This record gives sequence, C-alpha cells and structure tokens, in this order.
Amino acid sequence: MEVRDALRATASLRDFTDEPVGDDVVAAILDDARFAPSGGNRQPWRVAVVKDVAIRRELADLMQVVWDEYCGARAAGATPFAFGRSIDAAPIPTPNPVLDGIEAVPVVLVVAADLNDIALMDGVLDRPALVGGASVYPFCWNILLGARDRGLGGVMTTFLSREEPAAAPLLGLPEGHALAATIFLGHVDHFPTKLRRRPVERFATVDRFDGKVFS
Ligand SMILES: Cc1cc2nc3c(=O)[nH]c(=O)nc-3n(C[C@H](O)[C@H](O)[C@H](O)COP(=O)(O)O)c2cc1C
Repeated sequence: MEVRDALRATASLRDFTDEPVGDDVVAAILDDARFAPSGGNRQPWRVAVVKDVAIRRELADLMQVVWDEYCGARAAGATPFAFGRSIDAAPIPTPNPVLDGIEAVPVVLVVAADLNDIALMDGVLDRPALVGGASVYPFCWNILLGARDRGLGGVMTTFLSREEPAAAPLLGLPEGHALAATIFLGHVDHFPTKLRRRPVERFATVDRFDGKVFS
C-alpha cells in the first residue's frame, strides 16, 4: 500500500469478520512496528498478545465501565475525561460491540510501556505530562499501519488505562510499567476511505500559534 494512502485512509475499525489472523501475521506486524521512533531510542514498549478468552472477558468488563462513563459524559455535552474539566455526569450503560464480542476479536494486543525507559521532557511542568506518550504511540500507530498494509483493520483504544490498577494483575503488568493502549485487529468487510479530519488551515499558523493561517 502507498504510504500516503495508508496515512489518509487508516480509519478506526471495530467490526471484524470471523476470518482468523495467524500468529505469523501478528508477529510480522510487530516486527515492522518495532522500527517506530522513541525518545533516546529506548523502545519502552511491551506487548501482551491476549488470547485467553477469560482474560479478554475480564478486560472487556473493565473497559465497559469506562465506556459507560464516556457515554455519560458525552451525553452531558462534555469532552469525556478532558483535563481540568471535571464533569458530574452519571455513566450511561451503553452496548459496545467490540467489547461485547471480545472473545471473537481476531487479535487483541495490550501495549504497555516501561516508565523507566521514557524520557519525560515535560515531566517538570505544572500540568499533565504529554511527551512520554510519544515514546510509545508511534509504535502503536505503526501496528495499525502495518495491519492496514496487510489488509487488516483495527482500532487503538485507551479505555483500559483508566482501569490500570485492576487490569495490571490480570495481565501480569510489571512494576513501573503503564498501560498505553489496547489494539484490536482483524479482517473487515470494508475500509472507509474518507476520514473526517479538520483541514490544515484550521490548525496551522505562521510563526506563532496566534499567527496568520498557514495554507
Ligand atoms: C490516543 C487514542 C485513544 C483512543 N481511545 C479509544 C478508546 O478508548 N475507545 C475507542 O473505541 N476508540 C478509541 N480511539 C479511536 C478514536 O475514537 C478514533 O481514532 C477517532 O474517533 C477517529 O476515528 P476514524 O479514524 O475512524 O475517523 C482512540 C484513538 C486514539 C488515537
């Protein structure tokens, strides 16, 4: 697949066919993804390829709690989990097909990061640190791109991170590691080609963020 096509048409897909995905394909995707950049080239990622359906179910039940919170916040008109904006919205129990059917999802990957191997450049600032994630999410995105190149669809999710303390013992998460993402992959019936994204002139400016629009 052309890189530009992959960049412009790798949607988040959560509805998979029954066609299985072999371990060899997953291994090849990870083998490509490992060339992702990371701060100081520390490569902090760890991956659990979760096959056990009992573990999957327990993880899905944890993620469902967060999904219900998300739906409650959205229904109240809030940006769910936005920093600095607490919202007093009750969770709304809402079906989530990929969680409901997690046992049958062809590939479930949980990506963790070793915090000792993360260069947290903005960790000293008086706001939540952002830069650390950049040492693991390019790897996660490479997984999605590598899957797309192999004719697979998928989605990166983060709801499990909110339940990290409960998920950690289920996954044997090592001390000092954080849950970065849960990635679902599989064959899909259809790849959307038109993603809804803001145009460049909506986010790029000249010289300064209050500068004139760059286009
Ligand atoms: C950092 C990050 C976190 C995300 N977390 C979730 C999640 O917890 N659950 C989920 O269903 N999708 C999650 N997504 C997928 C987004 O919802 C998706 O990328 C976005 O809605 C755009 O969808 P599209 O690519 O199909 O246009 C996440 C994506 C990113 C990049």
